[in-house]
Amino acid sequence: MVEYLDRTPLIGSSAVMRKVRAALARLAQFPWPVRIEGASGTGKGLAARVLHVMSPRAHGPFVACAVNLLVDTLAIGELLGYRKGAFTGAEFDYMGKFEQAHGGTLFVDEIATASPTVQEALLTLIEGKQVRRIGEQRPRLVDVRLVFATNANLKEAVLAGTFRRDLLYRLGDLPVRMPPLRDHRDDLPELIDYPLERLTRESGASVRSLETLELKALHSYDWPGNVRELEKVLQHFVIFEELPLPLGAASPEADWRERLDQVLAKNGGNRAATARELHVSRKTLYDELKRRKRAANEE
Ligand SMILES: Nc1ncnc2c1ncn2[C@@H]1O[C@H](COP(=O)(O)OP(=O)(O)OP(=O)(O)O)[C@@H](O)[C@H]1O
Ligand SMILES: [Mg+2]
Repeated sequence: MVEYLDRTPLIGSSAVMRKVRAALARLAQFPWPVRIEGASGTGKGLAARVLHVMSPRAHGPFVACAVNLLVDTLAIGELLGYRKGAFTGAEFDYMGKFEQAHGGTLFVDEIATASPTVQEALLTLIEGKQVRRIGEQRPRLVDVRLVFATNANLKEAVLAGTFRRDLLYRLGDLPVRMPPLRDHRDDLPELIDYPLERLTRESGASVRSLETLELKALHSYDWPGNVRELEKVLQHFVIFEELPLPLGAASPEADWRERLDQVLAKNGGNRAATARELHVSRKTLYDELKRRKRAANEE
């Protein structure tokens, strides 16, 4: 299946992201394999698409595939294609993903996990521009530009005997490093606004804007799951109108208490309006204000 190419740009005007985009734009002009590195959720898949779109092959297909298949013939057939009857379950002639990418870009995720069969097929694909479908003798000519992602050190994998040396050489060494989100925090405003606008549009809901405290929480968080995690957090916000833990306050109670001063100030000190906005009763609000006064006097 040829993937639907969305037009999501690689967001971020920080120096790091500008460098990433410049590298992708440059590499896109050359036919050689490109390696994309980066932790989970940093945008490796997106970078591969962006590279494709900026390349002379932009009008060809972009096909993404995972290669960490168990030694299951049908799964490998999904990549290489097969002839009808080649194995149990091969009910028709099938054009695999490698061939589907002909004239375009093939994005191979986690290439270090490829089985020996798939490694051999990848080598034949880049070296010989050929694919041989399972159950066929005659190879077919296939012209693809390869982009691959890996977090493993391929040289070490070669030494460990799990990765072919000739394939490593063929893959070359043209890396693009996707930075973890904590290394380009200055992109957060853009990385929040753009998806939030899209999610709001998609959901058709009226979404309130993020409050100062919430923005502060987003900015001080460490983002171990990178941009993907940020997108999930924003989606949660659109659905539940609050940030998920651990970003939201530890309890709804602590949450409204923290926001109290801010909302009170916004409402010009009007307690009724403040209580309504914080979804608490007026009594609860008065009690809290009394408690604060007492606490302040005790100091
Ligand atoms: N710089 C960015 N600008 C806009 N969206 C981004 C950016 N980086 C990541 N994303 C978005 O974050 C999500 C995760 O990105 P992607 O799937 O490309 O990450 P990945 O590195 O391939 O992650 P994994 O290793 O988990 O597969 C996607 O929805 C992607 O569109
Ligand atoms: Mg990915």
